[in-house]
Amino acid sequence: MEFVRLLLVFLHLLGMGMLIAMVFVQLGAGAGAPLNKGWLHGAAFQLLTGVALVGLAPLTDQDYSHAKIGVKLAVLVVVAGLAAVFVSKPAAPKWLTPTLAGLVVLNVGLAVFWT
Ligand code: HEM
Repeated sequence: MEFVRLLLVFLHLLGMGMLIAMVFVQLGAGAGAPLNKGWLHGAAFQLLTGVALVGLAPLTDQDYSHAKIGVKLAVLVVVAGLAAVFVSKPAAPKWLTPTLAGLVVLNVGLAVFWT
């Protein structure tokens, strides 16, 4: 089961990388560009891998902090919600990319520093 946990952590880290990459994709697209669908895919990927890690915790002998998971989940719901609302608009507002970037970095910080 340890291999399964490591595989999920591996995928979870790739998902984080994808969301960070989306910041640069969005900045590269310039002001007035629509929001890239990759934000939605990356958020869904993090949700799936995160929920799988938590769901399998009894089998992988992990004891995750429920408060930390709850806050990380809430932050991700905001990321996914903003992405879902703005992906269909012709242009992403100026504040959206820094906001999404900040929320993703916040979750990385919570994952690492909230022990
Ligand atoms: C933007 C969203 C997210 C980002 C960027 C993110 C980032 C990370 C990172 C960098 C780690 C590795 C930390 C370390 O090994 O020290 C981690 C671990 C973890 N994340 Fe997330 N995460 C996100 C969302 C979520 C969500 C929504 C959940 C649960 C519903 C979740 C559950 C977990 C769990 C359980 C671990 C620990 C895995 C282990 O070491 O066994 N994450 N996350």
